[in-house]
Amino acid sequence: MAKTPVTIFVCVSCRRSLGDAEESFDQPGRGLADTLKARLADGGQTSVTVTPVECLAVCKRPCTVALAGADKWTYLIGDLDPETHAEEIVAAALSFAASENGIVPWRERPASFRKGVIARVPPISASEAVKS
Ligand code: FES
Repeated sequence: MAKTPVTIFVCVSCRRSLGDAEESFDQPGRGLADTLKARLADGGQTSVTVTPVECLAVCKRPCTVALAGADKWTYLIGDLDPETHAEEIVAAALSFAASENGIVPWRERPASFRKGVIARVPPISASEAVKS
């Protein structure tokens, strides 16, 4: 299936604690966004855009990303490690881009996405409501 353009929104505001002191933190989303951009460019992938953004309202679970695309469900994922999960995020984004509606089969999702999923939001184009 052809890939449709999608975006990985990466929160660059999240603070990851580096110790007990309140001012001891880093902001790992900044590095994650740069790493994802570099890996996608190295792989010649043009269907995925990386966009740094401010708070995604999941501040206690850095790093946090959202996968979004036209007519696709949007996924919000947290607890991502910029050092160990970059490859999985790229793979998940490519699967997301190749999917018809953004729903990637569970068995094809990387472990970090299975564990870290916070929410999924239907596309605005979704027209079928679940009948109760
Ligand atoms: S600061 Fe990153 S989700 Fe709120």
